[in-house]
Amino acid sequence: MGIKFISTGRYLPDKILTNFDLEKMVDTSDEWIRTRTGIIERRIAEESIATSDMVTFAAKKALKKGGLSPEDIDGIIVATVTPDNFYPATACWVQKQLGIKEFPAFDISIGCPGFLYGLIVAQGLLRTGECKRILLAGAETMSRVVNWDDRNTCVLFGDGAGVVILENSNDDSDILASNWGADGSLGHLLIQPAGGTRMPPTHETIDKKLHSVSMQGFEVFKHAVRWMAKSAGQALKNAKLTAQDIDVYVPHQANMRIIEATIERVGIPMEKTIITIDKYANVPDATIPLSLDWALEQGKIKRGDIVLMNTFGGGFSWASCIVRW
Ligand code: ACO
Repeated sequence: MGIKFISTGRYLPDKILTNFDLEKMVDTSDEWIRTRTGIIERRIAEESIATSDMVTFAAKKALKKGGLSPEDIDGIIVATVTPDNFYPATACWVQKQLGIKEFPAFDISIGCPGFLYGLIVAQGLLRTGECKRILLAGAETMSRVVNWDDRNTCVLFGDGAGVVILENSNDDSDILASNWGADGSLGHLLIQPAGGTRMPPTHETIDKKLHSVSMQGFEVFKHAVRWMAKSAGQALKNAKLTAQDIDVYVPHQANMRIIEATIERVGIPMEKTIITIDKYANVPDATIPLSLDWALEQGKIKRGDIVLMNTFGGGFSWASCIVRW
């Protein structure tokens, strides 16, 4: 029995923050951001909106597209590093907002690969019959956790949510292979230092902006290219496929130059690569489902296509999945 993506949905806040807007906030330029990252603009959530709200908006679109009602779902997984609260899980708030209950709802918090970690977990739940139809989301409200005075990080991120609905299928659609992993020895290179039990919130942690993203950009860049390429290669090997068999490549959208360097290593042409970083920036756990929904809308993914999804992020961690759409 295979696993099928029945439908997808995305939500992007209306507010657009351009590179030119950022020029007025920190010492940066449109030219620097565009050439170093490929980002032109990003979306910023309204103050009253939290991560679960964006997931719910995207979920309603995905349900509608799939001709489903909330009662047809019996599992919710939300991948996020910007949850509404430490607990309850953001997935539980989504369950409440959709007006459904009495089935598993939980978050995955690892970093940018959370959505693909969630896909691998969802696959197990569906194949064993634990769940029949899972709503899997990747969503972030990064604007609440970036230091808007730090030009090294604030220009990179955006807000948004993407949702996919998965179920067992009897046709050719399936998850063909995956690869995932982590190297915790490098966790300090990309971290939100304060707010947890290691460094609980104090006036000092707030004054020192330790509740914001802290990152050694060049190290992240270097490891991202290395591990995205290695993980994609391993997933291809597991699926007994080559790069030439891939119809559509959906990479994590952290930096255009990371994507360019990775496709060169993996052997995938730019024409097959989905790019959304220009308009949405890096929306960590959401970049893959946002890109999937956008690519489907543009007719760039069709039933039967072999799609490679590939990501890297905090932990450090990485994941790749190859699906027959
Ligand atoms: N505007 C202008 N100058 C800036 C800005 C900015 N927004 N940000 C940094 N700089 C400066 C730095 O202060 C530094 O100045 P200095 O040399 O005087 O100290 C200089 O630019 C660094 O320039 P480069 O070395 O050319 O920068 P680089 O090519 O490494 O690009 C970047 C930096 C964009 C952060 C890159 O390293 C990167 O994208 N890394 C990956 C980070 C990432 O994607 N993180 C997201 C989370 S993890 C993930 O999703 C995979």
